Amino acid sequence: MTVSLPLDAERYHPDPREPVDRWFQTASASNVRTTMAVVTDLVGPSCGAVVDPFAGGGSSAAAARLMNLPFFGIEIDPVLACVSLAKSRATVRHARMLRRLPPIHDVKGLLSVLAMLPACGSADEVTVASCLAVVLALRASRGTPLGYEEVTGDLARHRPPAATGRLVCADATAPAGWRDLPVPKEGAVLYTSPQFGRRSPLLGAPPRLTASARDVLAAAEADHGREAAPRDSGFAATTAAMLRQAAAMMRRATVVIEHEPDDDGHDATQEALEQIAAALPGRVHDARVIVCGQFTWRGPLSLIVFDLR
Ligand SMILES: C[S@@+](CC[C@H](N)C(=O)[O-])C[C@H]1O[C@@H](n2cnc3c(N)ncnc32)[C@H](O)[C@@H]1O
Repeated sequence: MTVSLPLDAERYHPDPREPVDRWFQTASASNVRTTMAVVTDLVGPSCGAVVDPFAGGGSSAAAARLMNLPFFGIEIDPVLACVSLAKSRATVRHARMLRRLPPIHDVKGLLSVLAMLPACGSADEVTVASCLAVVLALRASRGTPLGYEEVTGDLARHRPPAATGRLVCADATAPAGWRDLPVPKEGAVLYTSPQFGRRSPLLGAPPRLTASARDVLAAAEADHGREAAPRDSGFAATTAAMLRQAAAMMRRATVVIEHEPDDDGHDATQEALEQIAAALPGRVHDARVIVCGQFTWRGPLSLIVFDLR
């Protein structure tokens, strides 16, 4: 079944003014208010958590934060994994921990801050503050430094969810990352945006920044990504492989998959639906495609939605 949910361009693109989310937005990020609205419409107030196995720069982490829901994420790129973790869990306390240390103008500055942080708080606080430090270094490496005032102001306005989730750096199509992700067996929404185009630009952060992000995640035992490399299997196969792992961990969930055509215009919606049904025999119910409109040269954005049971 295909239904429509017309969006305008403003509700499609990530909002550069959105607190917390604005710290870093990837080219393929979603608008967090739209994600929130979709989750609220489809699941209602009973939603217990947001799970995003292709977490990227954390638009769904930021949406979960706005909804006061724990966020469980997987992301293969260590720098983006740190960005998502910071968006989901940073507080004013973490920003203050960093503020007492030398400013982060570049990756060298990040390395000294990461060396000093372990003396400044508990292991968990150090993990979150380190991820926030990675965000600051990423912004500095792009020539768009992010000020402590901006970060602290955002964090004062938007508190993190009362219940925390977990984020791991891993390949979401393999079991390793999922094993470490205590996703709720029931009541969560799996909202994700798998890689659209095969030639889509990857983050391409400086190698030393990626290595530091990996060290931060390894110290938090959240790094299963060392052996993982993004595979070029295409949207439908990647999505079905990820869902096979998700379905082994989750008994019931509402699943929302964002889809845009591939770089060559190939629309994989039907192919994805078929491969998902084949990967999860008997567990896909009320599947529908929600067409939201066209905002990029690739073609229309649609949401593949179903109940996993
Ligand atoms: C379309 S982007 C997600 C956009 C995201 N909503 C955001 O706010 O940035 C897809 C993400 O999936 C990640 N990815 C690709 N293959 C993956 C895999 N096998 N396992 C986990 N993450 C993967 C990419 O690194 C990329 O960040």
